[in-house]
Amino acid sequence: MNPPTTETETLTFLLNGREVTTQIEPDEKLLDVLRERFDIVSPKNGCQPMGQCGCCTILVDGRPMVSCVMPASRAAGKAVTTLEGLPEADRRALAAAFHVTGGLQCGFCIPGIAMRAKAIIEKKPEADLDDIRRGLMMHLCRCTGYKKIEDAIGVYRDACQGKSIPGADWSGKLGSGLPRFQGEAFALGEKRYIADIKVAGMLHGALRFSDHPRAVIKRIDTAAAELMPGVHQIVTWLDVPGERRQGLVYRDWPVFIAEGEVTRCAGDVLAAVAADSPAAARRAADAIVVEYEILDPVTSAEEALAPGAPLVHPDIHPDGNVLSRSAVRMGDPIEDALAACEHVVHESFETQRIEHLFLEPESCLAMPEQWLHETPPPYEHFEGPTSDSVKLHVLSQGQGVFDDRRQIASLLGLSEDEVQVELISNGGGFGGKEDLSVQGQTALLAVATGRPVKITLSRAESIRLHPKRHPMTIEYWVGCDAVGNLQAVKARIVGDSGAYASVGSKVLERAAGHACGPYRVSNVDVEAIAAYTNNVPCGAMRGFGVNQVAWGIEQCLDLLAAKVGSDPWTIRYANALEDGDTFCTGQVLEGGVGLKKTLEAVKSQYFAAGYAGIACGIKNTGIGNGMPDSGEAEIVVEQWADGQPGLAIFTGFTEMGQGLLTILIQALCETAPVEARRVRVVIDTSRPTPCGMTTASRATVLGGHAVRLAGEKLAEALKSSDLAGLVGRIFRGEYVYDETVPLGQRRGKDGGPPKTHLAFSYATQVAILDDDGNLDRVIAVHDVGRVMNRILCEGQIEGSVHMGIGYALTEDCPSEGGHVQAKDLRAFGVLRAHQTPDIDVILIEEPDPNGPWGAKGVGEIGLVPTAPAIAGAMRRFDGQLRIRLPMSDSPQAKALLGKKK
Ligand code: FES
Repeated sequence: MNPPTTETETLTFLLNGREVTTQIEPDEKLLDVLRERFDIVSPKNGCQPMGQCGCCTILVDGRPMVSCVMPASRAAGKAVTTLEGLPEADRRALAAAFHVTGGLQCGFCIPGIAMRAKAIIEKKPEADLDDIRRGLMMHLCRCTGYKKIEDAIGVYRDACQGKSIPGADWSGKLGSGLPRFQGEAFALGEKRYIADIKVAGMLHGALRFSDHPRAVIKRIDTAAAELMPGVHQIVTWLDVPGERRQGLVYRDWPVFIAEGEVTRCAGDVLAAVAADSPAAARRAADAIVVEYEILDPVTSAEEALAPGAPLVHPDIHPDGNVLSRSAVRMGDPIEDALAACEHVVHESFETQRIEHLFLEPESCLAMPEQWLHETPPPYEHFEGPTSDSVKLHVLSQGQGVFDDRRQIASLLGLSEDEVQVELISNGGGFGGKEDLSVQGQTALLAVATGRPVKITLSRAESIRLHPKRHPMTIEYWVGCDAVGNLQAVKARIVGDSGAYASVGSKVLERAAGHACGPYRVSNVDVEAIAAYTNNVPCGAMRGFGVNQVAWGIEQCLDLLAAKVGSDPWTIRYANALEDGDTFCTGQVLEGGVGLKKTLEAVKSQYFAAGYAGIACGIKNTGIGNGMPDSGEAEIVVEQWADGQPGLAIFTGFTEMGQGLLTILIQALCETAPVEARRVRVVIDTSRPTPCGMTTASRATVLGGHAVRLAGEKLAEALKSSDLAGLVGRIFRGEYVYDETVPLGQRRGKDGGPPKTHLAFSYATQVAILDDDGNLDRVIAVHDVGRVMNRILCEGQIEGSVHMGIGYALTEDCPSEGGHVQAKDLRAFGVLRAHQTPDIDVILIEEPDPNGPWGAKGVGEIGLVPTAPAIAGAMRRFDGQLRIRLPMSDSPQAKALLGKKK
């Protein structure tokens, strides 16, 4: 525990050209001084005190520095420059370069990278691509795959040499490259994330986590901590007025662990503190005395499923640690079908746990009734409450504002009308922000104190708390006839779902439903089990169970091809799903299956390359499996501050860097005669637009439909009025697809074949090694149905492939004794710009009958084929079959990781 300190020293330095003086504590870092004392928010805190993400990069006496580890005292007498202080011409050039090239997605990493770009080009005005990549060594971007960032820096370099920056396409039409909504403000760090927002009277919160993944909580003593300087309130389980346990599918996750209860993971929260500063809150959280009776944790799925294993949830699962079982069966008894095959491959595969590593850690700001009534609008950085019934206004960066609201209201014993949740566009999610993180504790502290409270997790706390991608073991038996036509697939899948359900049952369900890959096979027997353990929970992450099974089935196909005497491309083409085929879930694909086109697009490059591997992918769009998929939107005609009319699209989906808000504006511009620059998008619960989670690659399709339907009504109204005459009018669009049935059901709702999903997207990827066996490039061909926005679509796939290369070779998140072992960002193995091979994206448009303008989801499929494609290339190079991810001991992984400074 750090003792509180009151010693201060005087610091004087030049901040953006102006001399400033402030008092600092001896151990304060420059980043905190800039953000807290001077409200300079362009440097972001992505990993303090690790200094490994680059988000906080600034210039000190003209040299780029990561400010989160730099003692503030070292800035004395120096010139400190942030994006806010660059010459206006530089600011405009940087903003335009990133904006027009699509060089930002969530945007969280970009202000730091923009400062680095300034330094790179100043040092070497003719910097080439290698210079740019090396210059970005200190930076992480989890969204873009760096390709469009490199383009942006190239455009900025050219602008510095007097070349004009290409203009953006503001037509707003589908297929155009309408730049990201508010992209320039994000690039300059002006668009605030929650951690950047301050409101009058705000307190800061911190959480006290359990020290042990499995222990009886004998006593939680907050008395001494409550007396510490700056502390206003400490809340525990005793203060929860409503339902203490929350969850997206099952309510098994306590927002606070109670005395007498047994903890289930090291991310369990025991108490929350509100104090005058984050440091005071953390000191008090550390000072809370907890007495434990320590128990042995269950640390693997195998252990959890063994007879006599300790129960993780004895109250709700008294019979064992099975969270869920999913099964798909079709055709003949599987052993008979396999026995009839000419060739059978039997192999087991393993995949690793993966950390999302979104660059913006979790943050939430909650404002209670008393404060809302006393503090007049307008609110500077957010919309504010829109109804007198609102007792609590919550700024969230979660992936579903309506699910956040439901759970917060339930926790507090309020009605949902009394809670308003507003999304502040987040700094990356990838599925890791679906569950409640800190929203519940923040809301309770705000109600308890009657003051606005903000909790922002440190990177270490974020790693400890949020769910990860499931590690799985997958055993396959795959058989074909003499010429390579698939006849039978049997698979047994087990996933470690960790301590809480999250959406783990759905992830394993999705793994089961995609276990045969995008191939025609008539005899199927797949079972998938999600197991509770005392590890960090596992839940949604880009790919949602499909990456794991692709790792296995795609390699089985390669092995079968060898047995048949065929090759990996030909066996895939022979078995590829087509329109009218039956998917392994029993769903008949009624159109829009572009898989063969993706294979044809890479055929020549695949066969021409010396060492190439190939893999295909299929990924559902929409949750389905018996759950209705809906998209809702309302278009409100407003009077804007400039006196002219404008439009606001309200919906419940989340922007987390994927570009959804831009796509929705395009959907409206395509439907009604409106200007893209006169449209804004608001994500909150103030209007009745509950859409469910932004997950399952569904927001573009469902949100696009909803905006299209609302836009058609607006277009009709505009036939008899100009926009000014419609101010105050609201146009509503609602799209519901409710034809799916649960996985394993053999009949659909209409009595015909079952439908398990609204739509699917398809892809083929080829990984190519150079003559030394190093990964040279990945060619990603994706059938996206309809390209809504080419720049954003390419960016999504480039970012996914980057994530897939890391999944294949370098990324891991090991756990020991229930504790995640990685203590800093580098340990997760996420690739940096100079380590990322070239990625070529080719887009195929095979319209889906259920997609708006034929569009399919693209958010997740980008990394489904990547790892097996790379494994195939490596096997072609050295003949080795690799069954475990990551393939970190391979020469290819070592070569990438060896590309360090
Ligand atoms: Fe780089 Fe999101 S745009 S982390």
